[in-house]
Amino acid sequence: MTRIFLDDAGGAPILAEVTAALRDLPEGNPSSPHAEGRAARAALDRARDLTAQALGAGRTEITFTASGTEAVNLALFGSHRRMPATGTILTWAAEHQAVLGAVRRLQAEGHRVQIAPVDDAARADPDAISPGTALVSIGLANNEVGTLQPVREVIDRAHERGALVHVDACAGPRWIPIPDGADLVSFSGHKLGSGRGGALYVKDGVRIYPLLYGGPQEWGRRAGHEDVGSALAFASAISVCAREREARASVARTQAAVLRSLLAELGGELTGAVERLPNFASCAFADRKGEDMLLALDIAGIAASSGSACASGSLDPSHVLLSMGLSLDAALGSLRLTTGYATTDEEIARARDILSSVLTRSPARA
Ligand SMILES: Cc1ncc(COP(=O)(O)O)c(C=O)c1O
Repeated sequence: MTRIFLDDAGGAPILAEVTAALRDLPEGNPSSPHAEGRAARAALDRARDLTAQALGAGRTEITFTASGTEAVNLALFGSHRRMPATGTILTWAAEHQAVLGAVRRLQAEGHRVQIAPVDDAARADPDAISPGTALVSIGLANNEVGTLQPVREVIDRAHERGALVHVDACAGPRWIPIPDGADLVSFSGHKLGSGRGGALYVKDGVRIYPLLYGGPQEWGRRAGHEDVGSALAFASAISVCAREREARASVARTQAAVLRSLLAELGGELTGAVERLPNFASCAFADRKGEDMLLALDIAGIAASSGSACASGSLDPSHVLLSMGLSLDAALGSLRLTTGYATTDEEIARARDILSSVLTRSPARA
């Protein structure tokens, strides 16, 4: 029996378009003037144009990175270090570790940082933006429970106060568009189906310092030899998303609703807001352990997740679930099922049977 992949939010399966784009990858160094180098430069230029087109951006606004974490760090360190030391960087407690880790480091370096609380669905409150706010970092959607963040409102309010806005779009652009107007937007390739790479959008006119110093690559924002393969993979994945997200989202909405009602029937407390990414079914069981459920489901043929991929594999409860006010027991018993572009209705029907059998018999926590 073929396995059922319900961990799209942990890392989307590599798209056929990405595999095809990498088939004839040129081998040269894009900075070399010979024919091999020029072929690599042309491929990199193509990747940048495709990405810019998919995002409705200009080509100079795109910087390729190795990962979403790098893009987030480049956005936050790169912009904040250019600001007056008196400006506050604001983010929220349910943001990804990449954001929280970066702002805590900035705080340790002496910058003013505010990590605002979230509500019981992990939703950020734009009221946290205040006159001293100089930089705001908000996720497009929460990566553990799928809650959509009030990005439009945050951008407008922050701009009224003259603050820059970074949108962490590592979770979500596969399913929903990104509101216009952000100054910096970070992306993770493996969340989009490219299996590698990332990118940072930097709005024309916004200046950032690089994290790496050296050559003038990537408009001086990221020194070092360019990874043409990752750029091409990223570009083809983001292009597929831009083209197909609406149609895919409507299928996902129905499939995830089936999974959510089953999880609730089986005793799970659904987590996240009603306004969520369409492919999300997440819940918490106060009497089960996340690792036990994942292992049992894995053996039965379902790839699932217990919150973020970074947090699973450790016994630590998810900071997202705790920030939403869940009890420690509930946070340790979380389960996240996320459908993907290739998930079929037949797989959802099979997943229903497997989940019912595994979550009925799986041992309750001692
Ligand atoms: C919201 C969010 N931000 C940042 C990241 C980091 O991206 P990457 O895994 O590509 O480093 C992730 C990945 O889990 C994420 O979901």
